[in-house]
Amino acid sequence: MAVIPPQNMPNFKMLLDQFKNTRSQTLELVKPLEKEDYVVQTAFFMSPPKWHLGHVSWFYEVIMSKINPSYEFHSKEYSKIFNSYYQALGQPRDKAKRGILSRPTVQETLDYFFMINKKVEDFLSNIKNEEDFLLFQLAFNHEYQHQELLVYDVQNLLADSYHPVKQNNAPIPSPVEKNAKMIYGGLFEMGYPGLDFCYDIELPEHTVYLNSYLMDTFPVTNGDYLKFITDGGYENFRFWLSDGWEKIKKEGWIAPMYWEKEEEQWVRHDFRGKHKINLNEPICNVSYYEADAYCKWAGKRLPTEAEWEKASSWNESKEIKTVYPWGNEPPNARHANLLESHIWSPSVIGSYPEGKSHYGCQQMMGDVWEWTSSDFVGYPGFKSGFVEYNDKWFCNQKVLRGSSFATPIASIRNSYRNFFRPDERWMFAGFRCVTDI
Ligand SMILES: [Fe+2]
Repeated sequence: MAVIPPQNMPNFKMLLDQFKNTRSQTLELVKPLEKEDYVVQTAFFMSPPKWHLGHVSWFYEVIMSKINPSYEFHSKEYSKIFNSYYQALGQPRDKAKRGILSRPTVQETLDYFFMINKKVEDFLSNIKNEEDFLLFQLAFNHEYQHQELLVYDVQNLLADSYHPVKQNNAPIPSPVEKNAKMIYGGLFEMGYPGLDFCYDIELPEHTVYLNSYLMDTFPVTNGDYLKFITDGGYENFRFWLSDGWEKIKKEGWIAPMYWEKEEEQWVRHDFRGKHKINLNEPICNVSYYEADAYCKWAGKRLPTEAEWEKASSWNESKEIKTVYPWGNEPPNARHANLLESHIWSPSVIGSYPEGKSHYGCQQMMGDVWEWTSSDFVGYPGFKSGFVEYNDKWFCNQKVLRGSSFATPIASIRNSYRNFFRPDERWMFAGFRCVTDI
């Protein structure tokens, strides 16, 4: 009797190709690094590239051990060093001290990376049921997340001393009109509607009620944000949440991360080197506190994640939800600025008119993640899909939607929920505003 695989279960060849492509993309990111670059931890919030390589490889060992309980890990020492935060798998090391270890060496870590490749390739040929396929999908998606984290970390570590394997020019922007789109309220079904991989936190689909609102067509730009700075935004407590005010005073923040003032001019130091800020680029590397303070100053507010998702996914004429803002067509270079675009910075507003949502909101995918006002918690009826992966973070984190110029194409969708603490800003985060009607 023939066994019919479920609709969302890829065959062995597809899974193997996905694995190989994922691993190649990770290697492409580290290829420009010198040996010394792999080891250094420039700040407590980043991880050395060597650690990422070891950690994503170790995570495949975790997955193989879940499928085959008699699986033997390569090394007890590696399992300790490359464990991030999984209490169930031993005592994780302090994240802020990932850069103090010279062993395993860079070469030993790369050898481990390739050894795990071989093990996984052999393992995949014996995968037969849907549950195990999905566990490997989780491991691939986990590696996509680390590819993006690696880009944040390499910017902090090297900025323009990093010379990417591939580098493309940004597209020529179309003329823009900075306005807002009317989104009518009512009942909206939020959450992942498809049959392919998604994280447990995107489920279940559930109904929410929304009032009507105006969603800005574009994310807030450097030029918009500069007006907030020059209007004394960082010196006026009235715009700030109490925790945010305390944070900016304690840290001495007077502008977004990577901004510096040189001869009365704001410059940004990133993969492109030190350059005058581009007024038409989406603001990047701001915390939730800064996003919220800007909105208060501007007389607007951040969207909830439900408002963001409706603006991005709902096609009012067809009465359907789509996977991406532009529809269900797989993403390409004309839709959004993602990791595979190889642009290495946000693109100015108006660069991706073909990626607009049904309502006309642009650049909801790519460029910068967008802070929302929503707390990161489980949806009603949430069921944990993998112990300690997502739900142990259901406290003190805010949801971000969309994706950034460092997000791999394979991991974007309208229902994706990213999350960070409100004071974090080394990731590529910006925001767009909503106005109540
Ligand atoms: Fe991880």
